[in-house]
Amino acid sequence: PRTHLVLDAAFTVGPVRRRLFGGFVEHLGRHVYDGIHEPAHETADEHGFRKDVVELVKELGVSAIRYPGGNFVSGYKWEDGVGPVEQRPKRLDLAWHSTETNEVGLHEFQHWLDQVGSELMLAVNLGTRGTAEAIELLEYANINAGTALSEYRKSNGRQEPFAIKMWCLGNEMDGPWQLGHKNAEDYGKLAAMTAKAMRQIQPDLELVACGSSGASMPTFGEWERTVLEHTYDDVDYISAHAYYEEGDDLPSFLAAGVNMDHFIKTVTTAADHVQAQKKSDKRIDISFDEWNVWSITKWNEQQKTFGPQDWPVAPRLLEDVYTVADAVVVGGLLISLLRHADRVASASLAQLVNVIGPIMTEPGGPAWRQTTFFPFSLTSRLANGTSLQVKASGDTVDGGKYGEVPVVDSAATVTEDGKAAVFLINRHPSESTTVTIDLAGLAASGDVRAEGIWDDDIHAVNDLSSTERVGLRTNETVSRDGDTITIELPPVSWTAVSIG
Ligand code: AHR
Repeated sequence: PRTHLVLDAAFTVGPVRRRLFGGFVEHLGRHVYDGIHEPAHETADEHGFRKDVVELVKELGVSAIRYPGGNFVSGYKWEDGVGPVEQRPKRLDLAWHSTETNEVGLHEFQHWLDQVGSELMLAVNLGTRGTAEAIELLEYANINAGTALSEYRKSNGRQEPFAIKMWCLGNEMDGPWQLGHKNAEDYGKLAAMTAKAMRQIQPDLELVACGSSGASMPTFGEWERTVLEHTYDDVDYISAHAYYEEGDDLPSFLAAGVNMDHFIKTVTTAADHVQAQKKSDKRIDISFDEWNVWSITKWNEQQKTFGPQDWPVAPRLLEDVYTVADAVVVGGLLISLLRHADRVASASLAQLVNVIGPIMTEPGGPAWRQTTFFPFSLTSRLANGTSLQVKASGDTVDGGKYGEVPVVDSAATVTEDGKAAVFLINRHPSESTTVTIDLAGLAASGDVRAEGIWDDDIHAVNDLSSTERVGLRTNETVSRDGDTITIELPPVSWTAVSIG
């Protein structure tokens, strides 16, 4: 197969915002406890956080990190996580059938974020709680001093406010599995009321209303419209969540970006419809605050094994071991996000450590990079400046349930000083693809380099027994002749070409 791409600085999508490379840390399984936080580990700092994990998170290049959930947040009392650690209550975590020890709460997590250099994106509980608790948390976190809750924060050791800017108004409230699940009308009213109250404290917050938990939800599209009819004037973003798994359908899996494109288009259409209805000048963009590859099938099986008295601390949950094919799909989803950089203001890879994470740890043992680490870290490092519209023509391949799809999917970025990057996946299961890239419309000079992920065994993984089996490889086939780059992409591969 062959594909030809044309890049031109005149045809842009929009600026690449750093928040596109966000992450997500939920109190779930071994994510926090025995993941980022393991006081007995030899690398632990004075607060019990593993420094080897901090280094990997920095290398991954994540911007804003959503916390503390996820489904967890819909039963969470934030007050349990502040104050003297030895007095904090142990609670049932209904979302994950676990015991939450509350050893890590807002203060500890902020300390960790300071180490990794990321911004906090905080979710409030609109499942079992409501507006009153949300504004109490905001007062505790963001008011300088002089009120009961701001003084309480200070007495807990934090003089300066946390100054949290971005807040999620609940989590996946459209999902029947969610504690406090609501219909769109009820959630929309609660979210609007909460947003208004929060803005009475701090008008410049950035607020995210819950969108759909997936494009296959029966209320998808209609949910966004109804929620935004209630919240349009009060929020800034609507969320989107999407997970993909290979199962026994590799063609559809490799075409996951087609589904994400459709998802983004549907949500922006719903948002723009409400904008028109309201004759508003304001535009609502997307916070794609959960996306990844995840074997939900395995999780559904695991759930069936929980007994009524089993409430373990930090059990091994959602510890998916990622393959080369998974990494190619993650790279492909990043391509889709970059292609929509105008409407996707923020995105969070879900999640970060142990739980469907690009980073794994073993208690008392090593921390390592999963296959999915590599496309994320390299895209986060190379995608800078402006996202470009890529004009592509070429062969197609079977995309399973999505029909015929382009063999190669691509996105490109360029900085003001002419450094460009092109991100590519080859979806063909068995054949390599020749790609030519016409750079005539782009003032991008300098060396060309290509790195990526591919393997004769597309199901190869990194795990405890072999933590570095899969890594980035240099694609030696790349060459430049004047304004044309030529590269050969191996089957089932993800590649980043950097210019300059
Ligand atoms: O990321 C795992 C879970 O997926 C989150 O807790 C929830 O929001 C989603 O269903």
